[in-house]
Amino acid sequence: MTLKFDVLTPMIGARVHLDRTTLRNPATARELLQLLERHTVLVFPRLNLSDEEQLALTGALGGNVNIAARIAGRENAEAVYQVSLNEGVRIEKEYVLGTFFWHMDGLTVDIPPPKATVLTARHLAAAGGQTEFASTKAAYAALPAEEKAGLEGLRVVHTVTAALREIMHPEDVDAARRALRHEHPLVWARADGTKSLVIGATADLITGKSQAESRAILSRLLEWTVQPAFTYRHSWALGDCVVWDNTCALHRVIPYATDSGRMMHRTAIAGTEPVT
Ligand SMILES: [Fe+2]
Repeated sequence: MTLKFDVLTPMIGARVHLDRTTLRNPATARELLQLLERHTVLVFPRLNLSDEEQLALTGALGGNVNIAARIAGRENAEAVYQVSLNEGVRIEKEYVLGTFFWHMDGLTVDIPPPKATVLTARHLAAAGGQTEFASTKAAYAALPAEEKAGLEGLRVVHTVTAALREIMHPEDVDAARRALRHEHPLVWARADGTKSLVIGATADLITGKSQAESRAILSRLLEWTVQPAFTYRHSWALGDCVVWDNTCALHRVIPYATDSGRMMHRTAIAGTEPVT
């Protein structure tokens, strides 16, 4: 390992000192992927990537996937997605407000979930706007054995409507988004041999269980996963870049004002395995 890094917490997070001239270097990409597998969240302080450089980094780590373009009518969505509540940036405020709640990206579209998400801070909120991450891999590993056994074979329907339940009435969700739903195993047996929980705001119902039973199990697992031992909160500096493994982490943003000007540029690294 030639990259210099500091471990941020025992379970999740490392700060990596990356020379931006090495972004396209395959040896650097290999080391970054090793660090991502080990630490789940990689923080690159004040890297100040341009969109072109962010796309190059995303490409070097496995290729870009444009998840916003998977929604009917949004096929031409830009390659670098602007996460912002600024007036005039987009009309999808509810979708961005949905990021205030713990979730994984890309669970409701019919492609493998993105392997990782890449975010660069372009404008900060004066208050709020920190991003929190929770390791669903560490959380699963620490569950009591009998509870793990009880989760075997369970499947969960993930919907955009569920993800927006705190923000709007289901009937107000537009038809294209209401159509987005996908069923996944509750426990993801990942290719690297570890297991992670597939939970968060999009998790609606456990197949074959009542709403009450579903909510009880899903709420319990969410509370378990977001306890401090499995989480890292990133307080952004301008130009920071963070890459996190979307196959074994939840994330959310601490609420910020709609007129804060906060602007993040997001890209996603293509998923390599469906949830199995
Ligand atoms: Fe997200």
